[in-house]
Amino acid sequence: MHSLLRGVGRWMAGLILILIVAYLGLCLALQWAEREPVFGEIPGSPLKHVAPAGFLWGVSTSAHQIEGGNEWNDWARFERVPGKTRNGEVSGRASDHWNRVAEDVGLIETLGANAYRFSIEWSRVEPREGEWSEEAWRHYEDEVRQLRQADIEPMVTLLHFTLPAWMADQGGLTATEFPDRFARFAAEAARRLGTEVALWCTLNEPNVQMFQGYVEGIWPPGVRDTAQASEAVGGILRAHVAAAAAIRENDRDARIGMAVNLIVFDPSSPWSLPDWIAARQADSGFNWAYYDSIKAGRIQFSLAGFPSLDEALPGLVESVDWVGINYYRRNLVHFDAGAPGLVELRPGPGELSDSGVEIYPEGLLRLLRRAWKRYGKPIYITENGVSDATDRLRVDYLRGHAYAVARALEEGIPVHGYFHWSLLDNFEWNEGFGPRFGLFRVDYETFERHPTAGGEEFRRLSPSN
Ligand code: FCB
Repeated sequence: MHSLLRGVGRWMAGLILILIVAYLGLCLALQWAEREPVFGEIPGSPLKHVAPAGFLWGVSTSAHQIEGGNEWNDWARFERVPGKTRNGEVSGRASDHWNRVAEDVGLIETLGANAYRFSIEWSRVEPREGEWSEEAWRHYEDEVRQLRQADIEPMVTLLHFTLPAWMADQGGLTATEFPDRFARFAAEAARRLGTEVALWCTLNEPNVQMFQGYVEGIWPPGVRDTAQASEAVGGILRAHVAAAAAIRENDRDARIGMAVNLIVFDPSSPWSLPDWIAARQADSGFNWAYYDSIKAGRIQFSLAGFPSLDEALPGLVESVDWVGINYYRRNLVHFDAGAPGLVELRPGPGELSDSGVEIYPEGLLRLLRRAWKRYGKPIYITENGVSDATDRLRVDYLRGHAYAVARALEEGIPVHGYFHWSLLDNFEWNEGFGPRFGLFRVDYETFERHPTAGGEEFRRLSPSN
């Protein structure tokens, strides 16, 4: 009897040992597969001699965040609800860009930039459903003309988070009419601006808009409902496809893409399998759902706790010519059975920005490699920037991220351009005017623009400098 028990005990111990070795081996294999580049000394001018001719070195903004006077969209309404923004701040005059287009185009020139990504405020050009504002269209036509005269390539975003109030009232992203209404706006934009504009970005960060608006509920429409969140994913992709077709019909040489916010999700502990699984889930659910759907030609979305989507959508595959990446951060993911959504996120170990976001330039290279391997399409970095009110971080930030781009180019990844967020300090959504992302500092009393060391560095780093 005793010897039998001893035999079973030994057998169990052996099994446990094998399981431990297999577990550690698996973690080790995952670590090896995800081994990270580490940047050592960063060269002073990383893009010189590396960036191809025609490489776009630009800056990025969005209408609601800088124009001022945007009163007819869902955000303007949301801001006025007490408690929705930091200190109750409203966009108001924002950075007063609407009245300073010529001055700001001049600033872009002084930065040595050859490209500018900005958005058209849908609620300005179509303040009431089906009625165009000629005055607003003329304003944007004029802005594009000024950019062209200054040899600055425009990239036009059609939806950068804000919806006309009338569209929001019909149900916003989940309304059945949304794709059709959005496509009508896209067609009009392409018809009016298509001769001067080649680069079109249908939507900005649909993944962020969906999470903030329908999961966290801290942006319009302020809903916390995973069923509606999944519906919004479907609505967004249908609207994107309809808009892309409308643009192509009105602008034959259009090059169309979308800007998705990509986050590096690493496991909090590289020796925890649950952390690895949680990080992979976050990665596929947040980062790749939209582009994977486009590649597959099907609306596909699957994330624990959300209704799954899998439905063919004609036109998806050919809807994009390039992949847009907005890159800001790495998050460490910890599986926690007690946490909402089963995960806990925190920034990685590097230096933090004013907003507590880790500065991690290597992450940009990692994501560029993955996006290229996954989709094989040209890539634009449509946003990348840091909140830094005192100019203590931006110089090194720019250098590190420019180096990531240079390394990607050296590896043969076709990065066609980099757009820094942002030209100017601006209204940072629910964070109000707190975070300062500008290469130019804005004095919100006088609206004067002031140069920064970051702006100087941006100019110095320009591949054509
Ligand atoms: C991005 C948004 C942009 C701005 C920057 C800081 O997620 O696209 O509007 O808020 O973050």
